[in-house]
Amino acid sequence: MASGQRLFLLSIVTLKTLGLVIENTFTTPKIEHIYLLNFADVWQYVVDINQYGLDLSGITTLTFEVKACHDATIIMSNSDDGNSSKPIYQFIIGGWGNKKSAIQRRRDYSLTPGTYQTFEFDTLGLCQCAEYRPFWISTTNGVLMIGKGFIIGTNVVAEWTDPNPFTVRRIGIYTNIWRTGVWKVQIEAVN
Ligand SMILES: *[C@@H]1O[C@H](CO)[C@@H](O)[C@H](O)[C@H]1NC(C)=O
Repeated sequence: MASGQRLFLLSIVTLKTLGLVIENTFTTPKIEHIYLLNFADVWQYVVDINQYGLDLSGITTLTFEVKACHDATIIMSNSDDGNSSKPIYQFIIGGWGNKKSAIQRRRDYSLTPGTYQTFEFDTLGLCQCAEYRPFWISTTNGVLMIGKGFIIGTNVVAEWTDPNPFTVRRIGIYTNIWRTGVWKVQIEAVN
């Protein structure tokens, strides 16, 4: 790693009570309207938020701000190497024309009935084209939640309990249906 990069990394590491938190800014590009969970290789469309080779195994919460018109989407995978036989969660914020959000679970890429679930929630106007909006996501104890703001556990807008929860090892983001997104993502280093 070049010394310039190292200085940058150090400058974005802050110490919080629960551990190290690293904040990174990402831009997600315009893409066509895709049903990501219908693809075996979901990583071809998403921006991997782990740019420093951190061990994200066991990560259960994420906080971020996103500026996007709609369909700000996060995926969390059980596989750290893109194995499409492993389960994936997808969290859609401001989908369906910025009217609904969703929590989805795909067991694997078989796409057979019962392996693919979607839970929708009414969340009118959650995203904003010209304004950063803060959100958090939690998968702690298999309780999957999306919330507004920076404080995990408050202002819940979507919640579903997974009867067969899995360990998250990799996280990606994208913005669907021809919209860009600018994200400021905070990753809490697990170890
Ligand atoms: C992918 O995951 C499945 C299910 O856990 C496993 O059986 C298989 O060996 C994995 N494939 C690779 C290439 O790791």
